[in-house]
Amino acid sequence: MQVVETPEALRAVRRRLAGYIGAVYTMGALHEGHLSLLNTAREENDALIASIFINPTQFAPGEDYANYPRTLERDLELMDRAGVDVVFTPSPQDMYLPFHQTSVIVDEVSQGLEGASRPNHFRGVATVVAKLFNLTQPTTAYFGQKDAQQVVVIRRMVRDLNIPVEIAVCPTVREPDGLAMSSRNAYLKPDERKAAASLYRALKAAADAYDHGERDPSVLRMIACEELYREPLAIVDYVAVNHPHTLYGVHEPTDEPILLSMAVKIGAPRLLDNCLLPYSLNNREHLTEILGVV
Ligand code: PAJ
Repeated sequence: MQVVETPEALRAVRRRLAGYIGAVYTMGALHEGHLSLLNTAREENDALIASIFINPTQFAPGEDYANYPRTLERDLELMDRAGVDVVFTPSPQDMYLPFHQTSVIVDEVSQGLEGASRPNHFRGVATVVAKLFNLTQPTTAYFGQKDAQQVVVIRRMVRDLNIPVEIAVCPTVREPDGLAMSSRNAYLKPDERKAAASLYRALKAAADAYDHGERDPSVLRMIACEELYREPLAIVDYVAVNHPHTLYGVHEPTDEPILLSMAVKIGAPRLLDNCLLPYSLNNREHLTEILGVV
């Protein structure tokens, strides 16, 4: 595995790669969720490029940029074992040169859900992912369902700006009790860690109701909320039902697929989770076909 630290070095290495190129972008502190993206990308491509970059512009002042877990040595070891050919580990100074002024704003789909609580977050994400696309020039880039709105934002950017890349979406990898893996789970204290399983229970409660024929979005939302309210440590930020292509709110009963998503504060971290309903759609093929595709 080659480790490259600067955009110039990456360009030189990229020029020598041929065939189908897969890319997986991360902020490090790797867990099984990241590894599933790497493993899928490894299987489906001739070469695999990954990145580790904690992107300062997607954190708001007061968020956890300074404290975000940094475990570079371990991450490099895991990437090497996962069969990564090239890993890009730039510094913030290399990614954002002095006088940097250009950013990518994906309007409407960035505004609701996470965007409502984190106003400039998706501008930071879209900008850094556009830069990573230009630097790595992959055939296919792999993103996790865990950050469903991120997928929708990136897909809209790719479509609107004619960026020549395919987007693949991999399902959320979970702990045995259902908690979605996340680098931020490391912030949970033991009792909070137990309480954090309530997000998955809430998704499953709504999915069960859906399986039994419930189609009213407000009822599905309430079922998920009730499960969360049973957990005293859970402070609900939002539970929402949206159209998985556009993220428009869904207010009428429908048999079309819907996206149920939530943000819940448990102790310090704000935890995210989501699923498509019907629940049987939460796999690589359907997610890639549905999420953010307009
Ligand atoms: P990060 O949070 O490190 O996540 C990197 C990739 O792993 C994202 O595509 C994310 O959706 C995916 N991922 C995270 N947890 C997952 C899980 N439990 N199951 C499956 N996939 C999971 O997302 C980012 O970094 C950044 O915003 C980035 C895209 C790198 C831009 O800075």
